[in-house]
Amino acid sequence: MNRPITTEVAQPNDLEAFWMPFTANRQFKSAPRMLVGAKDMHYRSHDGRDILDGTAGLWCCNAGHGREEIASAIKAQADTMDYAPNFQMGNPLAFEFASRIAEITPEGMDRVFFTNSGSESVDTALKIALAYQRVRGEGTRTRLVGRERGYHGVGFGGISVGGIVSNRKFFGPLLNGVDHLPHTHDLAHNAHTRGQPEWGAHLADELERLVALHDASTIAAVIVEPVAGSTGVLIPPVGYLKRLREICDKHGILLIFDEVITGFGRLGSPFASEYFDVKPDIMTLAKGLTNAAVPMGAVVCRNEIYQTFVDATSDGIELFHGYTYSGHPLAAAAGIATLDVYRDEGLLERGAELADYWEDGMHSLKDAPHVIDIRNLGIIGGIELEPREGKPTARAVDCFTDCYENGLLIRTTGDIIALSPPLILETSHIDRIVDTISGALKRVA
Ligand SMILES: Cc1ncc(COP(=O)(O)O)c(C=O)c1O
Repeated sequence: MNRPITTEVAQPNDLEAFWMPFTANRQFKSAPRMLVGAKDMHYRSHDGRDILDGTAGLWCCNAGHGREEIASAIKAQADTMDYAPNFQMGNPLAFEFASRIAEITPEGMDRVFFTNSGSESVDTALKIALAYQRVRGEGTRTRLVGRERGYHGVGFGGISVGGIVSNRKFFGPLLNGVDHLPHTHDLAHNAHTRGQPEWGAHLADELERLVALHDASTIAAVIVEPVAGSTGVLIPPVGYLKRLREICDKHGILLIFDEVITGFGRLGSPFASEYFDVKPDIMTLAKGLTNAAVPMGAVVCRNEIYQTFVDATSDGIELFHGYTYSGHPLAAAAGIATLDVYRDEGLLERGAELADYWEDGMHSLKDAPHVIDIRNLGIIGGIELEPREGKPTARAVDCFTDCYENGLLIRTTGDIIALSPPLILETSHIDRIVDTISGALKRVA
Protein backbone atom coordinates (compact mmCIF):
# COMPACT_ATOMS: atom_id res chain seq x y z
CA MET A 1 0.00 0.00 0.00
CA ASN A 2 1.51 3.36 -1.01
CA ARG A 3 -0.20 5.53 1.54
CA PRO A 4 -1.93 4.60 4.74
CA ILE A 5 -5.68 4.29 4.72
CA THR A 6 -7.29 6.89 6.93
CA THR A 7 -9.37 5.51 9.76
CA GLU A 8 -10.17 8.82 11.35
CA VAL A 9 -13.85 8.54 10.57
CA ALA A 10 -16.46 9.12 13.22
CA GLN A 11 -18.47 5.99 13.92
CA PRO A 12 -22.22 6.53 13.77
CA ASN A 13 -24.01 6.05 17.07
CA ASP A 14 -27.41 5.36 15.54
CA LEU A 15 -27.91 2.87 12.75
CA GLU A 16 -31.69 3.07 12.51
CA ALA A 17 -32.23 5.88 10.01
CA PHE A 18 -30.41 4.33 7.05
CA TRP A 19 -32.66 1.73 5.40
CA MET A 20 -29.91 -0.32 3.84
CA PRO A 21 -30.28 -1.65 0.28
CA PHE A 22 -30.29 -5.41 -0.37
CA THR A 23 -29.36 -5.96 3.27
CA ALA A 24 -30.75 -7.93 6.18
CA ASN A 25 -31.08 -4.69 8.18
CA ARG A 26 -31.91 -6.33 11.51
CA GLN A 27 -28.93 -8.69 11.42
CA PHE A 28 -26.54 -6.07 10.08
CA LYS A 29 -27.48 -3.49 12.67
CA SER A 30 -26.99 -6.01 15.47
CA ALA A 31 -23.43 -6.76 14.24
CA PRO A 32 -22.39 -3.97 11.87
CA ARG A 33 -19.44 -4.23 9.52
CA MET A 34 -18.23 -0.77 8.54
CA LEU A 35 -15.70 0.05 5.88
CA VAL A 36 -14.00 3.35 6.63
CA GLY A 37 -11.14 3.61 4.17
CA ALA A 38 -9.85 2.11 0.93
CA LYS A 39 -6.59 2.06 -0.98
CA ASP A 40 -5.56 -0.04 -3.97
CA MET A 41 -6.55 -3.68 -3.26
CA HIS A 42 -7.73 -3.15 0.31
CA TYR A 43 -10.48 -1.75 2.42
CA ARG A 44 -9.89 -0.68 6.01
CA SER A 45 -12.49 -1.93 8.48
CA HIS A 46 -13.79 0.11 11.40
CA ASP A 47 -11.78 -2.08 13.74
CA GLY A 48 -8.59 -1.14 11.92
CA ARG A 49 -8.01 -4.24 9.77
CA ASP A 50 -6.99 -4.36 6.12
CA ILE A 51 -9.57 -6.30 4.14
CA LEU A 52 -8.51 -7.62 0.73
CA ASP A 53 -11.18 -6.63 -1.77
CA GLY A 54 -12.20 -9.79 -3.61
CA THR A 55 -15.14 -8.09 -5.28
CA ALA A 56 -13.92 -4.66 -6.49
CA GLY A 57 -16.58 -3.14 -4.26
CA LEU A 58 -19.64 -4.36 -6.13
CA TRP A 59 -17.86 -5.31 -9.38
CA CYS A 60 -17.04 -1.66 -9.93
CA CYS A 61 -13.64 -0.45 -8.67
CA ASN A 62 -11.72 -2.08 -11.51
CA ALA A 63 -8.67 0.18 -11.08
CA GLY A 64 -8.59 -0.41 -7.32
CA HIS A 65 -9.36 2.08 -4.62
CA GLY A 66 -8.31 5.59 -3.76
CA ARG A 67 -6.96 6.47 -7.20
CA GLU A 68 -5.46 9.91 -6.80
CA GLU A 69 -5.74 10.69 -10.53
CA ILE A 70 -9.50 10.24 -10.35
CA ALA A 71 -9.91 12.09 -7.06
CA SER A 72 -8.00 15.12 -8.31
CA ALA A 73 -9.98 15.23 -11.58
CA ILE A 74 -13.21 15.30 -9.55
CA LYS A 75 -11.85 18.03 -7.29
CA ALA A 76 -10.64 20.14 -10.22
CA GLN A 77 -14.03 19.89 -11.90
CA ALA A 78 -15.90 20.65 -8.67
CA ASP A 79 -13.79 23.80 -8.33
CA THR A 80 -14.48 24.82 -11.95
CA MET A 81 -18.15 24.00 -12.40
CA ASP A 82 -20.16 21.82 -10.06
CA TYR A 83 -23.14 21.16 -12.28
CA ALA A 84 -24.64 22.21 -15.57
CA PRO A 85 -27.81 20.93 -17.23
CA ASN A 86 -27.53 18.86 -20.37
CA PHE A 87 -31.10 19.56 -21.53
CA GLN A 88 -30.71 22.00 -24.44
CA MET A 89 -27.36 23.00 -22.92
CA GLY A 90 -24.06 21.18 -22.76
CA ASN A 91 -20.87 20.81 -20.80
CA PRO A 92 -17.66 20.03 -22.67
CA LEU A 93 -16.61 17.15 -20.42
CA ALA A 94 -19.72 15.12 -21.21
CA PHE A 95 -18.95 15.38 -24.95
CA GLU A 96 -15.29 14.55 -24.37
CA PHE A 97 -16.15 11.57 -22.21
CA ALA A 98 -18.65 10.23 -24.76
CA SER A 99 -15.97 10.45 -27.47
CA ARG A 100 -13.47 8.68 -25.25
CA ILE A 101 -15.95 5.87 -24.58
CA ALA A 102 -16.63 5.59 -28.32
CA GLU A 103 -12.88 5.06 -28.90
CA ILE A 104 -12.98 1.78 -26.99
CA THR A 105 -16.46 0.45 -27.77
CA PRO A 106 -16.92 -1.94 -30.71
CA GLU A 107 -16.72 -0.39 -34.15
CA GLY A 108 -19.87 1.41 -35.23
CA MET A 109 -21.13 1.72 -31.65
CA ASP A 110 -20.26 5.33 -31.04
CA ARG A 111 -23.38 6.97 -29.67
CA VAL A 112 -23.51 7.34 -25.91
CA PHE A 113 -26.47 8.25 -23.69
CA PHE A 114 -25.53 9.03 -20.07
CA THR A 115 -27.41 7.79 -17.01
CA ASN A 116 -26.51 7.51 -13.31
CA SER A 117 -26.50 3.76 -12.66
CA GLY A 118 -26.76 0.36 -14.21
CA SER A 119 -30.49 0.21 -13.48
CA GLU A 120 -31.07 3.47 -15.30
CA SER A 121 -28.91 2.27 -18.17
CA VAL A 122 -31.08 -0.82 -18.53
CA ASP A 123 -34.36 1.08 -18.44
CA THR A 124 -32.92 3.60 -20.90
CA ALA A 125 -31.78 0.82 -23.25
CA LEU A 126 -35.20 -0.83 -23.18
CA LYS A 127 -36.90 2.51 -23.88
CA ILE A 128 -34.50 3.28 -26.72
CA ALA A 129 -35.18 -0.17 -28.21
CA LEU A 130 -38.96 0.30 -28.06
CA ALA A 131 -38.83 3.84 -29.40
CA TYR A 132 -36.39 2.87 -32.16
CA GLN A 133 -38.68 0.15 -33.44
CA ARG A 134 -41.53 2.63 -33.56
CA VAL A 135 -39.49 5.39 -35.17
CA ARG A 136 -38.32 3.04 -37.91
CA GLY A 137 -41.91 2.06 -38.65
CA GLU A 138 -42.04 -1.21 -36.69
CA GLY A 139 -44.29 0.04 -33.92
CA THR A 140 -45.89 -3.39 -33.39
CA ARG A 141 -42.61 -4.57 -31.89
CA THR A 142 -43.39 -3.95 -28.22
CA ARG A 143 -42.34 -7.20 -26.58
CA LEU A 144 -39.11 -7.54 -24.62
CA VAL A 145 -37.27 -10.76 -23.93
CA GLY A 146 -35.01 -11.28 -20.92
CA ARG A 147 -33.65 -14.43 -19.31
CA GLU A 148 -34.22 -16.48 -16.19
CA ARG A 149 -31.59 -15.71 -13.55
CA GLY A 150 -30.76 -12.46 -15.33
CA TYR A 151 -30.06 -9.36 -13.26
CA HIS A 152 -30.62 -6.00 -14.87
CA GLY A 153 -30.88 -3.73 -11.87
CA VAL A 154 -33.95 -2.69 -9.98
CA GLY A 155 -35.96 -0.33 -12.18
CA PHE A 156 -39.34 -1.61 -13.35
CA GLY A 157 -37.91 -2.38 -16.77
CA GLY A 158 -34.92 -4.16 -15.30
CA ILE A 159 -36.89 -6.35 -12.90
CA SER A 160 -39.40 -7.15 -15.64
CA VAL A 161 -36.75 -8.56 -17.99
CA GLY A 162 -34.70 -9.85 -15.06
CA GLY A 163 -35.16 -13.34 -13.77
CA ILE A 164 -34.76 -13.26 -9.99
CA VAL A 165 -37.96 -14.16 -8.21
CA SER A 166 -37.39 -12.18 -5.01
CA ASN A 167 -36.63 -9.04 -7.00
CA ARG A 168 -39.93 -9.45 -8.88
CA LYS A 169 -42.60 -11.02 -6.71
CA PHE A 170 -43.24 -8.05 -4.40
CA PHE A 171 -43.77 -5.51 -7.14
CA GLY A 172 -46.98 -6.28 -8.94
CA PRO A 173 -47.51 -7.18 -12.57
CA LEU A 174 -44.36 -5.41 -13.85
CA LEU A 175 -44.11 -4.57 -17.57
CA ASN A 176 -46.53 -6.19 -19.97
CA GLY A 177 -45.36 -8.31 -22.83
CA VAL A 178 -42.13 -9.69 -21.41
CA ASP A 179 -40.88 -13.22 -21.96
CA HIS A 180 -37.82 -15.00 -20.65
CA LEU A 181 -35.31 -17.33 -22.20
CA PRO A 182 -34.17 -20.21 -20.01
CA HIS A 183 -30.95 -19.68 -18.09
CA THR A 184 -27.90 -21.65 -19.16
CA HIS A 185 -26.80 -23.05 -15.81
CA ASP A 186 -26.63 -26.84 -15.74
CA LEU A 187 -24.53 -28.63 -13.17
CA ALA A 188 -25.27 -32.06 -14.59
CA HIS A 189 -23.58 -31.18 -17.88
CA ASN A 190 -21.14 -28.43 -16.97
CA ALA A 191 -19.92 -28.72 -13.37
CA HIS A 192 -16.28 -27.70 -12.87
CA THR A 193 -15.83 -26.47 -16.42
CA ARG A 194 -12.82 -24.22 -16.89
CA GLY A 195 -13.97 -21.20 -18.87
CA GLN A 196 -16.91 -21.57 -21.23
CA PRO A 197 -18.88 -24.81 -21.10
CA GLU A 198 -19.26 -26.81 -24.31
CA TRP A 199 -22.83 -27.83 -23.54
CA GLY A 200 -25.76 -25.45 -23.85
CA ALA A 201 -25.55 -23.34 -27.05
CA HIS A 202 -28.86 -24.86 -28.15
CA LEU A 203 -30.61 -23.01 -25.31
CA ALA A 204 -30.41 -19.89 -27.48
CA ASP A 205 -32.83 -21.61 -29.87
CA GLU A 206 -35.54 -21.00 -27.29
CA LEU A 207 -35.71 -17.55 -28.85
CA GLU A 208 -37.00 -19.20 -32.02
CA ARG A 209 -39.73 -20.76 -29.90
CA LEU A 210 -40.76 -17.32 -28.60
CA VAL A 211 -40.73 -15.98 -32.15
CA ALA A 212 -42.95 -18.87 -33.25
CA LEU A 213 -45.30 -18.15 -30.34
CA HIS A 214 -45.60 -14.37 -30.70
CA ASP A 215 -44.32 -13.63 -34.21
CA ALA A 216 -41.16 -11.60 -34.76
CA SER A 217 -43.23 -8.55 -35.67
CA THR A 218 -44.16 -8.18 -31.98
CA ILE A 219 -40.67 -8.46 -30.48
CA ALA A 220 -38.51 -5.35 -30.01
CA ALA A 221 -35.42 -6.60 -28.21
CA VAL A 222 -33.64 -9.31 -26.29
CA ILE A 223 -31.50 -8.38 -23.31
CA VAL A 224 -28.90 -10.62 -21.66
CA GLU A 225 -25.82 -10.29 -19.53
CA PRO A 226 -22.97 -11.81 -21.57
CA VAL A 227 -21.85 -13.40 -18.29
CA ALA A 228 -24.57 -13.40 -15.65
CA GLY A 229 -22.92 -12.09 -12.50
CA SER A 230 -25.43 -11.39 -9.77
CA THR A 231 -27.08 -14.80 -9.85
CA GLY A 232 -23.80 -16.54 -9.32
CA VAL A 233 -21.45 -16.30 -12.30
CA LEU A 234 -23.19 -18.15 -15.12
CA ILE A 235 -20.79 -18.45 -18.04
CA PRO A 236 -22.36 -18.59 -21.52
CA PRO A 237 -21.85 -21.89 -23.32
CA VAL A 238 -19.58 -21.86 -26.37
CA GLY A 239 -21.55 -20.49 -29.34
CA TYR A 240 -24.58 -19.42 -27.29
CA LEU A 241 -24.24 -15.64 -27.74
CA LYS A 242 -23.42 -16.01 -31.46
CA ARG A 243 -26.56 -18.06 -31.90
CA LEU A 244 -28.64 -15.41 -30.12
CA ARG A 245 -27.15 -12.78 -32.44
CA GLU A 246 -28.03 -14.85 -35.52
CA ILE A 247 -31.62 -15.35 -34.42
CA CYS A 248 -32.03 -11.65 -33.61
CA ASP A 249 -30.62 -10.72 -37.03
CA LYS A 250 -32.89 -13.16 -38.79
CA HIS A 251 -35.98 -11.62 -37.18
CA GLY A 252 -35.10 -7.91 -36.92
CA ILE A 253 -34.87 -8.08 -33.11
CA LEU A 254 -32.41 -5.82 -31.31
CA LEU A 255 -29.81 -7.50 -29.12
CA ILE A 256 -28.89 -5.67 -25.92
CA PHE A 257 -25.84 -6.75 -23.92
CA ASP A 258 -25.96 -5.65 -20.32
CA GLU A 259 -22.24 -5.05 -19.80
CA VAL A 260 -22.58 -3.35 -16.44
CA ILE A 261 -20.19 -5.85 -14.87
CA THR A 262 -18.46 -7.35 -17.92
CA GLY A 263 -17.40 -3.93 -19.24
CA PHE A 264 -14.04 -2.29 -18.63
CA GLY A 265 -11.65 -5.18 -18.61
CA ARG A 266 -13.39 -7.76 -16.43
CA LEU A 267 -12.84 -10.47 -19.07
CA GLY A 268 -9.45 -9.19 -20.21
CA SER A 269 -10.87 -7.15 -23.08
CA PRO A 270 -12.57 -3.75 -22.95
CA PHE A 271 -16.02 -5.33 -23.26
CA ALA A 272 -17.49 -8.82 -23.35
CA SER A 273 -18.68 -8.23 -26.90
CA GLU A 274 -15.03 -8.24 -28.00
CA TYR A 275 -14.21 -11.22 -25.84
CA PHE A 276 -17.02 -13.28 -27.37
CA ASP A 277 -16.73 -11.62 -30.79
CA VAL A 278 -20.44 -10.85 -30.84
CA LYS A 279 -21.57 -7.29 -31.41
CA PRO A 280 -24.86 -6.24 -29.84
CA ASP A 281 -27.00 -3.32 -31.06
CA ILE A 282 -27.06 -1.65 -27.68
CA MET A 283 -24.90 -2.08 -24.61
CA THR A 284 -25.48 -0.88 -21.07
CA LEU A 285 -22.59 0.30 -18.92
CA ALA A 286 -22.05 1.61 -15.38
CA LYS A 287 -19.79 0.59 -12.46
CA GLY A 288 -16.28 0.51 -13.99
CA LEU A 289 -17.24 3.47 -16.18
CA THR A 290 -16.03 5.85 -13.46
CA ASN A 291 -14.29 3.25 -11.31
CA ALA A 292 -17.34 3.89 -9.07
CA ALA A 293 -15.83 7.15 -7.82
CA VAL A 294 -18.94 9.08 -8.93
CA PRO A 295 -22.17 7.26 -9.85
CA MET A 296 -22.67 7.11 -13.60
CA GLY A 297 -24.05 4.81 -16.28
CA ALA A 298 -24.16 4.89 -20.05
CA VAL A 299 -26.01 3.30 -22.94
CA VAL A 300 -23.99 2.80 -26.09
CA CYS A 301 -25.88 2.36 -29.35
CA ARG A 302 -25.05 1.43 -32.88
CA ASN A 303 -24.72 4.63 -34.90
CA GLU A 304 -27.71 3.72 -37.12
CA ILE A 305 -29.99 3.70 -34.09
CA TYR A 306 -29.13 7.27 -33.14
CA GLN A 307 -29.22 8.31 -36.81
CA THR A 308 -32.69 6.83 -37.26
CA PHE A 309 -34.02 9.04 -34.46
CA VAL A 310 -32.31 12.13 -35.85
CA ASP A 311 -33.46 11.49 -39.43
CA ALA A 312 -37.02 10.79 -38.38
CA THR A 313 -37.36 14.05 -36.47
CA SER A 314 -37.38 17.12 -38.66
CA ASP A 315 -37.54 19.51 -35.75
CA GLY A 316 -37.28 19.36 -31.95
CA ILE A 317 -36.38 16.66 -29.46
CA GLU A 318 -35.67 13.20 -30.93
CA LEU A 319 -35.90 11.14 -27.73
CA PHE A 320 -38.08 12.17 -24.81
CA HIS A 321 -35.83 10.72 -22.14
CA GLY A 322 -33.04 11.91 -19.87
CA TYR A 323 -31.98 12.54 -16.30
CA THR A 324 -31.11 15.76 -14.48
CA TYR A 325 -27.66 14.27 -14.00
CA SER A 326 -27.14 12.74 -17.47
CA GLY A 327 -23.53 13.63 -18.28
CA HIS A 328 -22.90 15.24 -14.87
CA PRO A 329 -19.59 17.12 -15.08
CA LEU A 330 -18.12 15.55 -11.95
CA ALA A 331 -18.95 12.07 -13.19
CA ALA A 332 -17.60 12.86 -16.65
CA ALA A 333 -14.38 14.14 -15.09
CA ALA A 334 -14.09 10.97 -13.03
CA GLY A 335 -14.82 8.87 -16.11
CA ILE A 336 -12.17 10.53 -18.28
CA ALA A 337 -9.58 10.13 -15.52
CA THR A 338 -10.66 6.49 -15.13
CA LEU A 339 -10.19 5.78 -18.83
CA ASP A 340 -6.73 7.40 -18.60
CA VAL A 341 -5.81 5.07 -15.75
CA TYR A 342 -7.15 2.04 -17.62
CA ARG A 343 -5.14 3.02 -20.71
CA ASP A 344 -1.93 3.97 -18.92
CA GLU A 345 -1.89 0.81 -16.81
CA GLY A 346 -3.22 -1.54 -19.49
CA LEU A 347 -6.07 -2.55 -17.19
CA LEU A 348 -8.56 -3.31 -19.95
CA GLU A 349 -6.28 -6.14 -21.08
CA ARG A 350 -4.61 -7.06 -17.81
CA GLY A 351 -7.26 -9.65 -16.97
CA ALA A 352 -6.16 -11.70 -19.96
CA GLU A 353 -2.60 -11.97 -18.58
CA LEU A 354 -3.81 -13.17 -15.20
CA ALA A 355 -6.74 -15.30 -16.35
CA ASP A 356 -4.86 -18.63 -16.36
CA TYR A 357 -3.43 -18.08 -12.90
CA TRP A 358 -6.86 -17.02 -11.68
CA GLU A 359 -8.46 -20.09 -13.27
CA ASP A 360 -5.91 -22.44 -11.67
CA GLY A 361 -6.42 -20.74 -8.30
CA MET A 362 -10.18 -21.04 -8.48
CA HIS A 363 -10.17 -24.66 -9.58
CA SER A 364 -7.65 -25.62 -6.90
CA LEU A 365 -10.67 -25.38 -4.55
CA LYS A 366 -12.45 -28.17 -6.38
CA ASP A 367 -12.01 -30.71 -3.57
CA ALA A 368 -12.58 -28.27 -0.72
CA PRO A 369 -15.49 -29.14 1.58
CA HIS A 370 -19.01 -28.27 0.33
CA VAL A 371 -17.92 -27.26 -3.19
CA ILE A 372 -20.17 -28.60 -5.95
CA ASP A 373 -19.05 -26.40 -8.84
CA ILE A 374 -16.40 -23.88 -9.79
CA ARG A 375 -16.77 -21.46 -12.70
CA ASN A 376 -14.42 -18.83 -14.07
CA LEU A 377 -13.89 -16.46 -16.96
CA GLY A 378 -11.50 -13.53 -17.19
CA ILE A 379 -11.14 -12.29 -13.62
CA ILE A 380 -14.50 -13.60 -12.48
CA GLY A 381 -14.94 -16.62 -10.27
CA GLY A 382 -17.96 -18.50 -8.99
CA ILE A 383 -17.80 -21.19 -6.30
CA GLU A 384 -21.07 -22.99 -5.77
CA LEU A 385 -21.62 -24.69 -2.42
CA GLU A 386 -23.92 -27.50 -1.45
CA PRO A 387 -26.74 -25.75 0.46
CA ARG A 388 -27.15 -26.70 4.10
CA GLU A 389 -30.10 -29.03 4.54
CA GLY A 390 -33.28 -26.94 4.97
CA LYS A 391 -31.25 -23.70 5.21
CA PRO A 392 -30.37 -22.40 1.79
CA THR A 393 -27.80 -19.56 1.71
CA ALA A 394 -26.76 -20.09 5.38
CA ARG A 395 -23.49 -21.86 4.55
CA ALA A 396 -22.44 -19.18 2.07
CA VAL A 397 -23.29 -16.44 4.57
CA ASP A 398 -21.12 -18.14 7.20
CA CYS A 399 -18.36 -18.39 4.65
CA PHE A 400 -18.68 -14.67 3.92
CA THR A 401 -18.43 -13.83 7.63
CA ASP A 402 -15.46 -16.12 8.13
CA CYS A 403 -13.62 -14.60 5.17
CA TYR A 404 -14.35 -11.08 6.40
CA GLU A 405 -13.00 -11.92 9.85
CA ASN A 406 -9.93 -13.28 8.14
CA GLY A 407 -9.36 -10.18 6.04
CA LEU A 408 -11.09 -10.94 2.73
CA LEU A 409 -14.23 -9.42 1.23
CA ILE A 410 -16.18 -11.87 -0.91
CA ARG A 411 -19.72 -11.70 -2.21
CA THR A 412 -22.34 -14.39 -1.95
CA THR A 413 -25.55 -14.90 -3.84
CA GLY A 414 -27.64 -17.87 -2.80
CA ASP A 415 -25.08 -20.55 -2.01
CA ILE A 416 -22.60 -19.23 -4.53
CA ILE A 417 -19.45 -17.23 -3.80
CA ALA A 418 -18.89 -14.64 -6.54
CA LEU A 419 -15.45 -13.10 -6.96
CA SER A 420 -14.37 -10.14 -9.07
CA PRO A 421 -11.32 -8.39 -7.57
CA PRO A 422 -9.90 -5.13 -8.88
CA LEU A 423 -7.88 -5.60 -12.05
CA ILE A 424 -4.73 -4.22 -10.46
CA LEU A 425 -4.38 -7.46 -8.52
CA GLU A 426 -1.15 -9.47 -8.40
CA THR A 427 -0.76 -13.22 -8.23
CA SER A 428 -0.06 -12.90 -4.50
CA HIS A 429 -3.59 -11.50 -4.06
CA ILE A 430 -5.01 -14.46 -5.94
CA ASP A 431 -3.12 -16.80 -3.62
CA ARG A 432 -4.53 -15.02 -0.59
CA ILE A 433 -8.08 -15.10 -1.92
CA VAL A 434 -7.80 -18.84 -2.56
CA ASP A 435 -6.13 -19.58 0.80
CA THR A 436 -8.65 -17.58 2.78
CA ILE A 437 -11.64 -19.19 1.07
CA SER A 438 -10.05 -22.62 1.45
CA GLY A 439 -9.69 -22.01 5.21
CA ALA A 440 -13.24 -20.71 5.48
CA LEU A 441 -14.66 -23.74 3.70
CA LYS A 442 -12.88 -26.01 6.18
CA ARG A 443 -14.16 -24.01 9.15
CA VAL A 444 -17.83 -23.61 8.20
CA ALA A 445 -20.16 -26.50 8.92
C1 LIG B 1 -25.66 -6.80 -15.15
C2 LIG B 1 -26.14 -5.70 -14.27
N1 LIG B 1 -27.00 -4.81 -14.75
C3 LIG B 1 -27.47 -3.80 -14.01
C4 LIG B 1 -27.05 -3.63 -12.71
C5 LIG B 1 -27.60 -2.53 -11.88
O1 LIG B 1 -26.66 -1.54 -11.64
P1 LIG B 1 -26.92 -0.46 -10.48
O2 LIG B 1 -26.87 -1.18 -9.18
O3 LIG B 1 -25.81 0.53 -10.70
O4 LIG B 1 -28.25 0.15 -10.75
C6 LIG B 1 -26.13 -4.53 -12.17
C7 LIG B 1 -25.66 -4.39 -10.78
O5 LIG B 1 -25.03 -5.26 -10.21
C8 LIG B 1 -25.68 -5.61 -12.96
O6 LIG B 1 -24.83 -6.53 -12.48
